[in-house]
Amino acid sequence: MAPTIHILNGPNLNRLGLREPGVYGAQTLSEIESLVRDHAASRGYGSVFRQSNHEGELVDWLHAANDSAGVVLNAGAYTHTSIALHDAIRSIDAPVVEVHISNVFAREAFRHHSTISPVARGVICGFGVHSYLLAVDALAALRTA
Ligand code: DQA
Repeated sequence: MAPTIHILNGPNLNRLGLREPGVYGAQTLSEIESLVRDHAASRGYGSVFRQSNHEGELVDWLHAANDSAGVVLNAGAYTHTSIALHDAIRSIDAPVVEVHISNVFAREAFRHHSTISPVARGVICGFGVHSYLLAVDALAALRTA
């Protein structure tokens, strides 16, 4: 069976396409899902793609990804606040790549701090939808390194 990458999306990302298109682009989350799943498949990975507005559900999904090839995590605003996500990432074996569509460092100061970066394997931000594709490539590179 193909190794699986989990792509987990946090709060308000279900609003992509409608939400601040000047910041996040015009693509909907389901369009992003197709692009990311196709990209993962082209690299030989199966994929699980999920979105939740609830912190605890994201914690549960991180736990469920324990035995996977890795996690691409766009935690949305929980990136900047969540100790629960920090602890969940620490608790699992799978590598986690933190991603952001926007360049959070070019935005408001409250977006410059991440509770999850210190426990993520790496961080990719600012490349729009390509941030997700780069994160898939990063996880693939980790497994061949
Ligand atoms: C985001 C950046 C966060 O600061 C914001 O709260 C989001 C989206 C991004 O993908 O650029 O919801 O994670």
